Amino acid sequence: MANIKLDIFRFDEAVDSVPHRDIVAVDVPETMTVLDALETAKAEVDGSISFRRSCRSAICGSCSMNINGVTGLACKTPCNTVMDEQGVIQVDPMPNFQPMRDLVVHMDPFWDKYTRLKPYLQPADKDEDHQTERRVSPEDMKKLVDVANCVMCATCYALCPVVSVDPSFAGPAAIAYAYRFIEDVRDSKREERLAQINEDYLWLCAHCYACSYCPKHVDPNDRIVDVKRATIKDRVMMNERGPRHALIVNKTVKQTGMLAETEVIQGTVGRFNFRGLLKVAPLGLRMAAKGKLPPPFVKPIPKVDEVRTIFDSLEVPVS
Ligand code: SF4
Ligand code: SF4
Ligand code: FES
Repeated sequence: MANIKLDIFRFDEAVDSVPHRDIVAVDVPETMTVLDALETAKAEVDGSISFRRSCRSAICGSCSMNINGVTGLACKTPCNTVMDEQGVIQVDPMPNFQPMRDLVVHMDPFWDKYTRLKPYLQPADKDEDHQTERRVSPEDMKKLVDVANCVMCATCYALCPVVSVDPSFAGPAAIAYAYRFIEDVRDSKREERLAQINEDYLWLCAHCYACSYCPKHVDPNDRIVDVKRATIKDRVMMNERGPRHALIVNKTVKQTGMLAETEVIQGTVGRFNFRGLLKVAPLGLRMAAKGKLPPPFVKPIPKVDEVRTIFDSLEVPVS
């Protein structure tokens, strides 16, 4: 048995203007999970402690919370992996969400973004007009299995730094789930889905890999790369800055072995987009004043052929 001291964020939006913390001590085996410790605290010490949970088996996705500053599933986190020498474990609501009561948060922004991508199959014909089952080859299904494991716990969304600075960003789970339908051979709305997720700021993802810390190993970052590649492959919304930026970066690095920043800015904004170029002009002037203006032309590095070989072997699309 261990004496676990849960240092719990307490807040009730109905009555509190500021949060406070309570330390609640419970005696539980140290191999029990943080969720078990919280359940014990609620049952034996303070029935008002609020948190979401259901399955206790990392299946329902409802018990995601911040544990010692790292978001994850409380039912998948044994106390002895997170308690300090005094047996203290800090529990807080997920970041990037508005707290409602204690560890319970308002999930609406997360669900709204998920709902926008129409998370259901939209085949070309109706089921009643379709005489046979809709078959998927094992190869095609292999691509979808990992994403289908998503339990919508929102851990990735809570960890995403882009969501924290720009709440319009769809977030990792929604994009990964969009991939699940974009790549499903039974679905008929690939183009609409790609356009939708592009409108939901797909290209804001900074590929920081924070969302790779997914308790179900969905790895949304890699699926976001796949959706960006599909956007370029299918030439969807190619007038948007995101795909243009990706292509011009690829092009200049392949040509010169370096990032030709002047060309990248022109290619991203649009060479004949005079209004857009005027908007970035003040930045250029400030850089020039500090002696940081990138050169207009970049000479290829001596071993640029080796860089080009890497591009060719990866079959990276270049405009
Ligand atoms: S991708 Fe992973 S972390 Fe994100 S909601 Fe799904 S299961 Fe949770
Ligand atoms: S990789 Fe993209 S989606 Fe994932 S946490 Fe980073 S910015 Fe967010
Ligand atoms: S209680 Fe269901 S995932 Fe933790």
